Amino acid sequence: MTELLDGKNFLVTGAANSRSIAWAVAKAVRSHGGAVALTYQAERLKRRVEQLADELGGAPMIELDVGSDAAVKRAVDELQERMPVLDGLVHSIAWAPAEDLQGNFVETTRDGFAQANDISSYSLIATAREARRLMTGGGAIVTMTYAGSWRVVPNYNVMGPAKASLESTVRYLAADLGPEGIRVNAVSAGPIATVAARTIKDFSGMLELLESHTPLRRNVTTEEVADATVFLLSDLSRAITGEVVHVDAGAHATI
Ligand SMILES: NC(=O)c1ccc[n+]([C@@H]2O[C@H](COP(=O)([O-])OP(=O)(O)OC[C@H]3O[C@@H](n4cnc5c(N)ncnc54)[C@H](O)[C@@H]3O)[C@@H](O)[C@H]2O)c1
Repeated sequence: MTELLDGKNFLVTGAANSRSIAWAVAKAVRSHGGAVALTYQAERLKRRVEQLADELGGAPMIELDVGSDAAVKRAVDELQERMPVLDGLVHSIAWAPAEDLQGNFVETTRDGFAQANDISSYSLIATAREARRLMTGGGAIVTMTYAGSWRVVPNYNVMGPAKASLESTVRYLAADLGPEGIRVNAVSAGPIATVAARTIKDFSGMLELLESHTPLRRNVTTEEVADATVFLLSDLSRAITGEVVHVDAGAHATI
């Protein structure tokens, strides 16, 4: 592989297991020469992430629950001891109550809406604000979104407005942090069967439909999303910020 990210340090959030998009990103960053720290959401998820960290040759692991500003600050303080300078942050985190990922959108609960936006969108602001302290030489932030932000996808429901908010957040952060040499972008991935995706009702039906409707007549892999993420983390994309890049076999153009 190339040495595209040689000598650079990255915090990759959201690797829960070997199917996570974040795990493919962590492996791709390592294969391009970057150093990686991983986060785990809570003690109960630590063991699985420990196995992933071992596979990367003992990557630092930090507990990070983005539901609290104090926890985000604590995580970055801890990271600072292992990686005093950070060159990139990968935000690969989303959550909504399962009952709000099915049925009629009009029945979305106030609480479900607030939680989906808090964990899936506000968390990018909270983590960027803290990570920025360590990005003293500039850097790149990449988050994961989905096209359900701008078109209606059955059962995606409350995550649609949450991803619209996330994509807008990308643009506002890009404007704020650009003068510091920090770029902020999103990858809009096609559907992939991860744990988070499987909470969406009839997710496998969506995968089947796309296989015959995307321009490339197939779905995408976490590795393909990871490769685009490496591009956005690297100097190859040095003039790109505030952008949403679709890695979806062309689905956004045809469906
Ligand atoms: N899989 C898809 O089809 C798809 C498509 C487009 C975008 N995405 C996005 O990719 C990102 C990663 O999802 P994934 O598909 O890899 O699923 P995943 O379940 O592997 O990852 C989701 C991660 O979010 C973390 N998380 C949830 N709540 C959290 C909290 N309060 N604090 C910290 N971490 C928390 C989980 O621990 C997990 O690691 C999400 O933003 C998702 O919306 C996924």
